[in-house]
Amino acid sequence: MEALHAITLKIHRYDPDRKKSWVQTYHVKVGGVLRFTDVLRKINQEQDPGLAWMSSCEHAQCGSCSVLVNGKPLLLCELLVQNAISQFGTHTFTLQPLHIAPVLRDLIVDLSRAYERVNRAKPYIIEPAAPPPEGGEQRISPRLMEQYVEATRCINCFCCAEACISSHRGFLGPNAILAATVRLFDPRETDFHERAAILYGEDGLPRCHTSQACSFVCPKEIDVAHFIALAKACAYASKPEEKKRSARQNRKDPPRRG
Ligand code: SF4
Ligand code: SF4
Ligand code: FES
Repeated sequence: MEALHAITLKIHRYDPDRKKSWVQTYHVKVGGVLRFTDVLRKINQEQDPGLAWMSSCEHAQCGSCSVLVNGKPLLLCELLVQNAISQFGTHTFTLQPLHIAPVLRDLIVDLSRAYERVNRAKPYIIEPAAPPPEGGEQRISPRLMEQYVEATRCINCFCCAEACISSHRGFLGPNAILAATVRLFDPRETDFHERAAILYGEDGLPRCHTSQACSFVCPKEIDVAHFIALAKACAYASKPEEKKRSARQNRKDPPRRG
């Protein structure tokens, strides 16, 4: 029979009706392969049905279960008890809601303003190129395709935004910048003026300090800072035509990592 682990969760609670915040401690005995979402469900069933938290897919695909565990932003549905014990070297875990968004209740935050930033980055093709003639196809190099696939694995969990050290209030944030950058290199995009205005504007790349904290915490292991560096490499060009040329060059031969 699998050994049980006695763990302690110190969970930051907030009751919007009473406008009261407090930290509540729960002691549970759980198997090592239980995920933290399972642990919270167990607490709901056995100790406290009022504890509020959020999840949806439970397969690290929707980004709804991001919280801070011992200060690190991560996905609750991906964190196994045995991995948490070895990763943090403790059986005691402090759970807090993300700080980048207003708390609605306990571990649940309102991400609507965070999503507004992603929308401001226009995470889609602004002006698509004419479709290829019938039977033809848009061409993209295998290397660029690999990068494109990596960047579009982002699930908007906002862990990178939580870890980001940029203090500028208007900064779009790493995941929004990532979404804009990948379209900069998309062979189907033709509007480089607007894309450049988003990326190199006041709330864009000039606010990034190249700390790489975003890459460090990404649960999908996307090297967000690498994509930011790609976009910055295009920024030297001050004239739109030069930006276009630079973007074309990157489409052919994007810089290597590291
Ligand atoms: S590299 Fe830039 S976007 Fe990423 S965490 Fe650092 S400041 Fe934020
Ligand atoms: S880049 Fe990674 S950490 Fe940031 S939102 Fe996307 S999946 Fe989450
Ligand atoms: S519940 Fe969907 S990412 Fe965790």
